[in-house]
Amino acid sequence: MRTKVAIIGAGPAGLLLGQLLHAYGVDNVILERQTPEYVLGRIRAGLLEEGTVALLEKVAAAGRLHQEGLIHHGIELAFDGARHRIDMHATTGKTVTIYGQTEVTLDLMNARKAAGLTSIYSAAEVKPHDFDTDHPRVTYVKDGVAHEIQCDFIAGCDGFHGVSRASVPASALKTYERVYPFGWLGILSETPPVSPELIYSNHERGFALCTMRSTKRSRYYVQCPLDDHVDQWSDQRFWDELRRRVDQKAADEMVIGPSIEKSIAPLRSFVAEPMRFGRMFLAGDASHIVPPTGAKGLNLAASDVHYLSQAFREFYDDKSSAGIDGYSARALARVWKAVRFSWWMTSMLHRFPDEGDFAARIQIAELNYLVSSQAASTSLSENYVGLPF
Ligand code: APR
Ligand code: PHB
Repeated sequence: MRTKVAIIGAGPAGLLLGQLLHAYGVDNVILERQTPEYVLGRIRAGLLEEGTVALLEKVAAAGRLHQEGLIHHGIELAFDGARHRIDMHATTGKTVTIYGQTEVTLDLMNARKAAGLTSIYSAAEVKPHDFDTDHPRVTYVKDGVAHEIQCDFIAGCDGFHGVSRASVPASALKTYERVYPFGWLGILSETPPVSPELIYSNHERGFALCTMRSTKRSRYYVQCPLDDHVDQWSDQRFWDELRRRVDQKAADEMVIGPSIEKSIAPLRSFVAEPMRFGRMFLAGDASHIVPPTGAKGLNLAASDVHYLSQAFREFYDDKSSAGIDGYSARALARVWKAVRFSWWMTSMLHRFPDEGDFAARIQIAELNYLVSSQAASTSLSENYVGLPF
């Protein structure tokens, strides 16, 4: 088989890249090691920047999003027993859309199927080869039969544990990492959200977040020790702890119910540089990971593939390699700003076991400054709604 761009990974990055390339007339094939059902079974965050929504509109995959997504103009910060609203739209003119990543993935899968594009699921032993030459190729095994795809370029959209970054010689990579000393215990429940907007809470017992998937389905998180196991958390224990960590109004008005999903995720900041290796390019979680506090993971995958698809379009339409030569620097410039913002939100809102009372008071001082300064709240808002692509 031959194609112009071989995409490894059918998560949001790979699927959105595939649709953007299709829109630009650039032939592509996606190789995914899991089944579609497995990919859709992943529970992930669900907050889209306007730039991400615009890309989904560009590939005609935003219909359901506009019907079911919730438009939010602000967020609330809870600390010292009170809740403070940050009106992000007032200072940025932008909004964010609450729409689950699973739904984004399903919409992109359906768009790809409707376009009749080639996606190879349950592809085993996927491996990129010769990406330091002008004739890269990707091999894989499907139903026990070995296959090879010749291509012009390889897009590594295979996430943090993928094969693409792992295929780059360690000497060619520089990685930056911070692992946080806690995790997030998340619960999904068929209960109405406690508030129409998200509540980020700094509490002496630990961070909590009240978010949602729709007006009938809530998503809540509490910070928990890294060595906690989800079996240690009954639903009742979760609800009791969550209500201790939010303001009294939220605690009194919260509708609780049985969990339909409950899991613990670790938090890390990670960046691998560069994002290009000859004719192989990394995008999304394959290159960078952010703690979910700023809801940037999916939105960074979107800006990466926006830049990468434009670069490939220039290569084929304008016979110019300027875009592919500039991709890594261009993508990393936006990645690091989002990595900084996600680190800052995480540092301000979580209890750090070894940092003592001084650090806790500094957090409260920063939160008080944020909610009392137009300049400070505007800075938070412009990062939260998404910096320009
Ligand atoms: N061969 C083929 N596919 C692979 C391989 C491999 N060796 N390794 C991983 N994959 C697939 C995974 O099964 C997954 O479907 O690559 C896909 C990567 O998808 P994601 O991990 O979702 O990464 P990305 O598309 O960059 O999306 C980033 O997902 O993890 C969240 O918070 C993150 O919201 C962000 C978004
Ligand atoms: C979510 O809806 O899962 C979510 C929203 C915002 C965040 C993190 C997670 O910052």
